[in-house]
Amino acid sequence: MTRAYYIAGNWKMHKTRTEAVALAKDLVAGLKDGKHTYLIAPSFTLLESVAAVVKGTNIRLGAQDCACEEQGAHTGEVSVLQLKDLGVQTVILGHSERRHLYKEDDALINKKVLLALKHGFEVILCVGELLEEREAGKAEAVCERQTVEGLKGVTAGDLNRIVIAYEPVWAIGTGKTATPEDADAIHAYVRKVVGNLYGAGAAEKMIIQYGGSVKPENAAALMAKENIDGALVGGAALQASTFVPIAKFN
Ligand code: 13P
Repeated sequence: MTRAYYIAGNWKMHKTRTEAVALAKDLVAGLKDGKHTYLIAPSFTLLESVAAVVKGTNIRLGAQDCACEEQGAHTGEVSVLQLKDLGVQTVILGHSERRHLYKEDDALINKKVLLALKHGFEVILCVGELLEEREAGKAEAVCERQTVEGLKGVTAGDLNRIVIAYEPVWAIGTGKTATPEDADAIHAYVRKVVGNLYGAGAAEKMIIQYGGSVKPENAAALMAKENIDGALVGGAALQASTFVPIAKFN
């Protein structure tokens, strides 16, 4: 089967409002004839302004995280209800920067996944191993655990609103990309894990993005791999001149 390619830009903690609106406008213009599925995920404070630019276009709006509770006394957190109100369609969860810099564990990420699904969002669930885990031969086991724990309680009916992003931590922002072969091997493994949980048909349909130093120069070779269905782009998503060629890799 052919899965649709899905290219997402994670802007992380970059851009002021003026810069974000300008980039979003450039992307709307640059991608209007694009053939794939697209998403940009700006910081919370930029969402409302960027929403106004991408509304009605072929670019989805994503948030980079959400709180694990709907509302309440959670200083500094942002609720799914607030995101929905701004027109956000997708939430990135379990990004390695959330896991490792802010100590989010699988149980917390799973709680967020279930809450986001309950409120109708699409979820991009990030998985990926640290360098020392790869060197210890544990890459598959780590990605398996993060996938299984992240999807706990997700029904088969909701699975079509889940996208998995494989982001090896050692490849993020380092300029070191996983080779297309190494990335494809983990994608195939994660697909098998999804198959064990939900059956082969569901696994076949699962979109699995690769993230970690994706650039215009390496995008096509990564996307050519059987199990790589798109990209979650960081640094190269911050300029239209690099994101557009990645998003239009073929
Ligand atoms: P880079 O593309 O900057 O390596 O970041 C990848 C990433 O973390 C996207 O979520």
